[in-house]
Amino acid sequence: MYTLGEFIIKNKDCFSYSTESLLRLFSCIKLASKEIHKEVNKAGLTKKIIGVSGVKNIQGEVQKKVDDFANQAFINSFKSRNVVCGIASEESKNFIEIKNKKIMNNPYIVLIDPLDGSSNIDVNVSIGTIFSVYMRSSSTKDHLSINDFLQVGNRQILAGYIIYGSSTILVYSVGNGVHGFTLDPSIGTFYLSHPNLFFPKNGNIYSVNEGNYTRFSNGIKRFLRYCQEEKENRPYTARYIGSLVGDFHRNLIKGGIYMYPKTVFFPEGKLRLLYECNPIAFLTEQAGGKASDGKRRILDILPKNLHQRTPFFCGPKEMVEKLEEFTNE
Ligand code: AHG
Ligand code: MN
Ligand code: MN
Repeated sequence: MYTLGEFIIKNKDCFSYSTESLLRLFSCIKLASKEIHKEVNKAGLTKKIIGVSGVKNIQGEVQKKVDDFANQAFINSFKSRNVVCGIASEESKNFIEIKNKKIMNNPYIVLIDPLDGSSNIDVNVSIGTIFSVYMRSSSTKDHLSINDFLQVGNRQILAGYIIYGSSTILVYSVGNGVHGFTLDPSIGTFYLSHPNLFFPKNGNIYSVNEGNYTRFSNGIKRFLRYCQEEKENRPYTARYIGSLVGDFHRNLIKGGIYMYPKTVFFPEGKLRLLYECNPIAFLTEQAGGKASDGKRRILDILPKNLHQRTPFFCGPKEMVEKLEEFTNE
């Protein structure tokens, strides 16, 4: 059984950049995720991560203590490991430049949703972290600019998530398939448990917050009726956790489409393009699926700002293409 580090070294030719950098990036991600794993697993016993932090984040959303804890864990871990020159997070309005002169020479930037699905922490349901890595687009001699972060998703060099569920699993891709590693908490090591994840054929799950039904467009409403129709392998079964990482992880393994369409409350959609949709879209395509805003490929959208939202649909190709027949009518 390979550890994550052994797997990276064995597959070093699949990553066009430095293997040492990839190991360092994962050193940051592993440390922060283990800190979160440790706290999440005793969440009911500690006041450190249950409840609200008392501030609102840039989205105007009430920040939970766990959002803040996870954000600090990732920022501290990246700051102290001399591998990225900048970080953008769901929890911070502006990107953070890592100022140490030596570190500014590093060409990598990272975008993160440190804690996805935080409303689920109080009720013992799966939550996650989503991460995305690019080469900066400007010269390493200059200061970082917002344009280093506003790159199209198809330029990602690494994307992945960690799910803190009944076990803690790290799933990533560098553009050579999608691979999952389960944490053995007794020794703090991630072992390869899900090599070459690929959407299964004949998926029969649809995942959407159906409480928003009356606020959906007619195209989405018709697609939902299609999912519920008694024909071929339908009706599909509905499964919705309310954390993108949890819903996506299940759909990737079992075969299903995830949807967060625009609504009256969220006219641009709810999910954030740069640190939620792009990394999940990258994994989706690497697993043989498709990710779309209903009309366009997610990975081709040129971002205009750090926290921009988009409607989001991802899953097995044939399911997303069927949805697009309805959204393009
Ligand atoms: P976050 O906790 O990072 O703000 O993300 C929550 C997101 C996403 O994970 C989830 O799929 C969606 O919000 C759920 O939204 P609804 O509660 O509106 O269904
Ligand atoms: Mn999120
Ligand atoms: Mn979040």
